[in-house]
Amino acid sequence: MAPIQNSRVIFNSIPEGYPVPGETLIIENESIDLDNDPLGGGVLVQIVCISVDPYLRSRMREPHVPSYAPAFTLHKPIHNHAVARVLRSENADVKPGQHLYGWFDFAHYQIVDAEGLKRMRILPEGSGVPWSVYVGVGGMPGQTAYYGWKELEPKKARRHLSGETIYISTAAGPVGCTVMQLAKAAGLKVIASAGQETKLQFLRELGADVVFNYKTADLDDVLKEHAPLDIYWDHVGGKTLDTVLPRMKVHGRILIVGHMSSYNNAPDPVYNLDRFLALRIKMLGFLVIDHDEKYSKEFYEVVPGKIARGELKYNETVVRSLEEAPQLILDVQQGNNFGKAVIVLADD
Ligand SMILES: NC(=O)c1ccc[n+]([C@@H]2O[C@H](COP(=O)([O-])OP(=O)(O)OC[C@H]3O[C@@H](n4cnc5c(N)ncnc54)[C@H](OP(=O)(O)O)[C@@H]3O)[C@@H](O)[C@H]2O)c1
Repeated sequence: MAPIQNSRVIFNSIPEGYPVPGETLIIENESIDLDNDPLGGGVLVQIVCISVDPYLRSRMREPHVPSYAPAFTLHKPIHNHAVARVLRSENADVKPGQHLYGWFDFAHYQIVDAEGLKRMRILPEGSGVPWSVYVGVGGMPGQTAYYGWKELEPKKARRHLSGETIYISTAAGPVGCTVMQLAKAAGLKVIASAGQETKLQFLRELGADVVFNYKTADLDDVLKEHAPLDIYWDHVGGKTLDTVLPRMKVHGRILIVGHMSSYNNAPDPVYNLDRFLALRIKMLGFLVIDHDEKYSKEFYEVVPGKIARGELKYNETVVRSLEEAPQLILDVQQGNNFGKAVIVLADD
C-alpha cells in the first residue's frame, strides 16, 4: 500500500484561560507507510480510542513550570491514555491483533518503539468491556476512584465506614461516579453535586442520598442540612473546599483529587485553614500513578468483571473524529461532557 495521511492533534500554542480549538490545538497530517515504515523493535498500532481528561489542560503550559505530568511539547502531537490495536510487530511479546493500553498520540496510527512498549498493558480480548471503557471507569479514572477509596479504607480496621457521610464534588464523571458506587456499596451516606440536570438524574439513579446542582444551590445551605462530613472527596478546590472545611467532623478526612475550579484561571483563596487544627482534619493530596504498583493488579482482577456484569455504571460522551478533539477537550473543562469523554476512532 502507498503511504497514507495520518492526522494528529498538535499542541500549537500555550493558552491563557480556556484552550481555544483551532488555536491551542490544531490538526496536522503526516505521511505514514503502514507496510514499510521501520518499527525499531517496536510495533505499529491503529488507535482505537483516546481518553480526554481534565488534567490535559495542566499539560498545556510552559515546560519549566513543574507539575506531576510533563508539559506537552509545542508543535508536537499531544498524547494521553488510549487503547490501540497492533497492526505490525517486531516484538516477540506483542502480536498483531492484540490491544494495548497506555499513552498514545492523538493520531490514527503510531509507531511505538521497544522502550515505549514497556509502559503498555496488553488488554484481554473478549472481556465484555468495550474498548472505550478501558480508558474510563476501567482505566485511569476508575483507578483513581478505586485506589483513592483503598487509601481511605484502612480506617475500616478501627471503625466501619458504614454510617459515615461523604461529599463528592463533580460526581457524575468517571472518577466521581465510581467513588459514588464504592461509597454506596460500603454503606455511606452520599452527598453528590454536578452542574447539569441530566448528571443529577444519573446520580439519583446510582443511589446518591443528597443530590444538588452546585451552580444553583448554596453549598453551605446543603451542608448545613446534611453534614457534618466524615469524608470530602475533592475534585474542585477553591471556594468549594473553603466552604466544606467548617462542615467537616472532628478527625474528618479530605482527599484532594483535582481542582476543576482553577485549571483555567487563578485559584480562589482558601480562608478556613484554622479548621484543620480545630477539627483535626487529615488532608491527603492524591495522585493515581503513585498507587499503581500497590493496587493495579487488584483493580484489573476486580473492576473489568464488575463492568462486564453491569455492576459498575457509567456514562460516556463520545466523538468519532480527531477533528472534534480540541472542542471535546474544551467541553470537559466547561462541563459540557456527560460522563467519560472519549474519542473513538475505530470499532475494534
Ligand atoms: N489525582 C489524580 O490522580 C486524578 C486522576 C484522574 C482525575 N482526577 C481529577 O478528578 C476530577 C474528575 O475527573 P473526571 O475525569 O471524572 O472528570 P469529568 O467529571 O468527566 O469532567 C470534569 C467535570 O468537572 C466539572 N467542572 C468543571 N468546572 C467546574 C467547576 N469550576 N466547579 C465544579 N465542577 C466543575 C464539569 O462538570 P459539571 O457539569 O458538574 O460542572 C466537568 O464535566 C478532575 O478534577 C480531575 O482532574 C485526578
